[in-house]
Amino acid sequence: MNYIYSAVSSEKKFFGNSDPVQLSEKYGTPLYVYNENILRSRCRDLKGLISYSNFTVNFSPKANGNLELLKIVRSEGLRVDAMSPGEIYVNKMAGFKPEEILFISNNVGEDEFRYAINAGVKISVDSVSQLEMYGKINPGGKIAFRVNPGFGAGHHEKVTTAGQNTKFGIEMSSIPEVKRILKEYNLKLIGINQHIGSLFMEGGAYLQSTGNILSIAKQFEDLEFIDLGGGFGIPYRKQANQARLDLKILGNKLSELIHTFVSEYGKTIEFKIEPGRYIVAESGILLGKVYATKMNYDIKYIGTDLGFNVLVRPVMYDSHHDIEIYRKNGTPSIKEESVRIVGNICETGDIIAKDRMLPEIFEEDILGVLDSGAYGYSMSSNYNNRLRPAEVLIQADGNPRLIRRRDTLDDIVRNFII
Ligand code: LLP
Repeated sequence: MNYIYSAVSSEKKFFGNSDPVQLSEKYGTPLYVYNENILRSRCRDLKGLISYSNFTVNFSPKANGNLELLKIVRSEGLRVDAMSPGEIYVNKMAGFKPEEILFISNNVGEDEFRYAINAGVKISVDSVSQLEMYGKINPGGKIAFRVNPGFGAGHHEKVTTAGQNTKFGIEMSSIPEVKRILKEYNLKLIGINQHIGSLFMEGGAYLQSTGNILSIAKQFEDLEFIDLGGGFGIPYRKQANQARLDLKILGNKLSELIHTFVSEYGKTIEFKIEPGRYIVAESGILLGKVYATKMNYDIKYIGTDLGFNVLVRPVMYDSHHDIEIYRKNGTPSIKEESVRIVGNICETGDIIAKDRMLPEIFEEDILGVLDSGAYGYSMSSNYNNRLRPAEVLIQADGNPRLIRRRDTLDDIVRNFII
């Protein structure tokens, strides 16, 4: 048995018929490994969130846009949002129909609006000036807009995407302007959307913002949809038994608000939510290898191939990811110690886990970074001209399948003009 410290992945049988050491030998490291069964069950959790028939879950592929994962999400009956022409393109490749895609634009040029219009997807704008730009190029067209209710929520100020200190959405006092431009360009307002921030573990702010968007919606007749946004959190501290977000309580309260709204509005319009993290985070574990250990002035460093080009969240947001340890010969560690797990990037800030108490780690060990399925690969880069990792899917039958190859040196140089 080569699982040394792996309660979370073992309990979920995360690696199916394989094990992390075998996977790292077969595919190399760093390696993103995803579990299909977990992904499917998270899709189902959110599809069942509310008791209202015209309800759709739009997956946010910014969290993870791997084509094979998108196909799984689609087969579960979810739809998608898109932040860019690139996301529209990949969503379509995964089989989503144009009407199943909502382009939530933010500071885009006419070319991007034209791309989205030609693609036939639904479009939301993020400011009065962008509404006007859209009106000029597509008079008489359909459009939605993103509201900023004046308050937000999120695990870090960088991902609190509504409120008085963010670039997002149209503030309440600008709504008369929106109405004027809709009229001027004969635009049909089909929806309003919001996204107040990423990662909440209690539903309070989400419910409050829902109440808010519903009261705005009443000012517009004949909407086709209201999109409440994403942000549903997952417990990143599973090794410390962190509780899950209580979807039942949140779902019941949301259902109540929606049913009341619909009976007053007189039309069973579509309600959407827009989760990214909740759907994919827990279906991913990032594997890396330990190449060096050392003491440097009283700090024990564990040197790995898990640089922040592979997973940037700890560096960018001080995010916590639980770490597991897998060892080929299975010999248990006899002591625990505080370690700083670092990568191979040329910056002191290249730390994946800071001063963590863990069983002793040795060279050649494989480390698993839990809950890295969301905003992991999608935020990876070629910084330091490093290769972005490969991705493997543990399929429903337990067998692994490569779903994205590792970059090659040719990928690094392919855009040079030689
Ligand atoms: N909809 C919109 C318009 C968004 O901007 C976002 C995320 C989502 C939906 C999905 O949010 P989620 O359900 O995943 O929380 N890189 C950060 C998170 C950035 C989220 C940005 N917007 C992280 O790693 O924590």
